[in-house]
Amino acid sequence: MDAAGFRELWGDFEPIGRSPEGGYLRYSWTETDLECRNWFRAQAEKRNLEVETDRNGNLYAWWGDRHAGDAVLTGSHFDSVPHGGAYDGPLGIVSAFLAVDELRASGAKRRHPIGIVAFSEEEGGRFGVPCVGTRLMTGALDADRARDLTDSDGVTLAEAMDSLNADPSVLGPDPERLRQIGVFVELHIEQGRALDAEDAPVGVATAIWPHGRWRFTFTGEANHAGTTRLPDRSDPMLTAAFMILAARKEARLAGGVATVGRIESDPGAANVIAGKVHAWLDARAPDEAVLNAILEGIESKVSERAGRDGTQVGSRAESETPVVEFDAALRDRIASLLGGVPVLPTGAGHDAGVVSAHVPTAMLFVRNRTGISHAPSETADDEDCAAGVDALAAVLRELAC
Ligand code: GLV
Ligand code: MN
Ligand code: MN
Repeated sequence: MDAAGFRELWGDFEPIGRSPEGGYLRYSWTETDLECRNWFRAQAEKRNLEVETDRNGNLYAWWGDRHAGDAVLTGSHFDSVPHGGAYDGPLGIVSAFLAVDELRASGAKRRHPIGIVAFSEEEGGRFGVPCVGTRLMTGALDADRARDLTDSDGVTLAEAMDSLNADPSVLGPDPERLRQIGVFVELHIEQGRALDAEDAPVGVATAIWPHGRWRFTFTGEANHAGTTRLPDRSDPMLTAAFMILAARKEARLAGGVATVGRIESDPGAANVIAGKVHAWLDARAPDEAVLNAILEGIESKVSERAGRDGTQVGSRAESETPVVEFDAALRDRIASLLGGVPVLPTGAGHDAGVVSAHVPTAMLFVRNRTGISHAPSETADDEDCAAGVDALAAVLRELAC
């Protein structure tokens, strides 16, 4: 595939969900999500692929009958983080359509069904929990808990699905569907600069770092910012500020990463000492021992600090994802098929990680020269994306033909 061929289909999808303030707002179960889904349907129909949505809102286009079993599934997600980049997710879906086109144009004889998938709510950008579609499908997320997840306006996932005429009552594990999938391959933009350093347009994933999101709640006493003497205050913002710095320090000392990218204060007024502060910690590490050391370090230092601030602190996990080691035989087979491309781990979460606990799974990464992701300037060269399509087509040919 050449760069222009990639650009033609990419350019058709790219404007959907673009925000005038920068980046993309492609949240799940919104009008923008519906536009993405309609685009997917139109592409599938153009190619005579059969479209269906599963009980968890994941959308498929099938070349061949999925009931035949041993299906080769490829795809990614449409949804974005707030003001996210264009490529994180959609690149894997657009590339899947183009790879299937390549395979068909070459007259390849298909032995297994090939499915293109758009998994639902991967980022957790709207409802807080990542990989909702795959976690529900695999039983890793309880359906009642999923239905009750709320967005920042207090709309539940169930209400959001209802608003787009999707039925939330059928959410839940889908073992029969999982059994029909023989292998899953997700192509994704790289979210770092390892491929750039190796001067390679495409690479293969080895592992995903264990990671999770924890919501910390700091409680103090709301009071007047002008008249309350400093010694009389119980200011939870101080404990939250300490936690943000402690997270950075514990991660640095242990060899992982930790981030507080979201904070909310109540009542949230400049002239009021906050009564309550919520802060969301995202922590990731090369292994579980390091991740636990980071969390324990933060929790013990923060509770000591809360004692000094006269505040209370509580935390609860919103999502936890264990380490993922992708199927080694599949990874090596793909890396050598592609001529010995680099193999690399990632600190980013993916539906591929959730699916890999049930189905042999692999990931292809496409070079990102700046490494920037989850931000408006995320980008990849059209030439590299075209190389990604070729690589995915070669993998589909190897696995399905
Ligand atoms: C998803 O992209 C994540 O790693 O948070
Ligand atoms: Mn992402
Ligand atoms: Mn992604």
